[in-house]
Amino acid sequence: MKNANIVLIGDGAIGSSYAFNCLTAGIGKSLGIIDVNKQRVQGDVEDLADALPYVSQKNIYAASYEDCEYADLIVITAGVAQKPGETRLQLLQKNAAIIKDITANIMQHHFDGIILVASNPVDVLTELVLRLTGLPKNRVLGSGTALDSARMRSEIGRRYNVDVRAVHGYIMGEHGDSEFPVWDYTTIGGQPIREFVKGPRLESDLAAVSDRVKNAAYSIIEKKGATFYGIAASLTRLTAAILNDDRAAFAMSVHLDGEYGLSGVAIGVPVLLGSNGLARIIQLDLNDQDLARLQASAKVLKENLESVL
Ligand code: LAC
Repeated sequence: MKNANIVLIGDGAIGSSYAFNCLTAGIGKSLGIIDVNKQRVQGDVEDLADALPYVSQKNIYAASYEDCEYADLIVITAGVAQKPGETRLQLLQKNAAIIKDITANIMQHHFDGIILVASNPVDVLTELVLRLTGLPKNRVLGSGTALDSARMRSEIGRRYNVDVRAVHGYIMGEHGDSEFPVWDYTTIGGQPIREFVKGPRLESDLAAVSDRVKNAAYSIIEKKGATFYGIAASLTRLTAAILNDDRAAFAMSVHLDGEYGLSGVAIGVPVLLGSNGLARIIQLDLNDQDLARLQASAKVLKENLESVL
């Protein structure tokens, strides 16, 4: 799978940052780009080609849906993005229509690989893609709370002056306003965060980290109009984990079939990710409060899904 053919659908700020990141990191055998704005794709392909002498990846091209037949991995970033103050769920009607169109085109060309969805609201759209394509659930994944978990780790690393790679933990639930941190399973150098940050500031610190992570995208969009480097880096890492069969752990949006007492919904939970897509759902033994939060988040997602079926 290392030499996989990737097709990227959506060449906006996120898609083009992802393409650049994959190119410089030498990920995949080829990368085809599809967008309704064909001129933008052509411009990006020409611009990215200028980097070819410096990288190992050699095949980047303007793709059409016909190329999906030979794709191993399709990454979908297409759709409208949040405007300042707008929630991800408010994008649903427009982006569901775009996703329906994209999935019809993909399946018409006999696609039989893995789909990684990043368009928002990512959890609802992941479940929609799963239902519309009929692909097995291990092969339809959403970036989910992978980015939020990265944001949480970065924030904790900064706050306590610790290398981010020594910080582990997950944000679970919707990639959006009902997400939540799982502090019982968050560790710094292997020590549970509640022991590492002892004392009176513990609860206020945890609440501050949680708020900051939840509002990170709003803050960035307010300042520069869109988020793209963080999500592009997350998508690149997820792509590498699939192509290299890493079986690495991420919080991602996957379809649940009874795990955590939930079914018929895609939502951010910890998983092992490898060359077959979802290798395993990690079922954490959540405390009552976190389980209730996950259920409440799933309820929000299910209600929204109903409105686009
Ligand atoms: C963000 C967008 C990708 O959180 O939802 O940056």
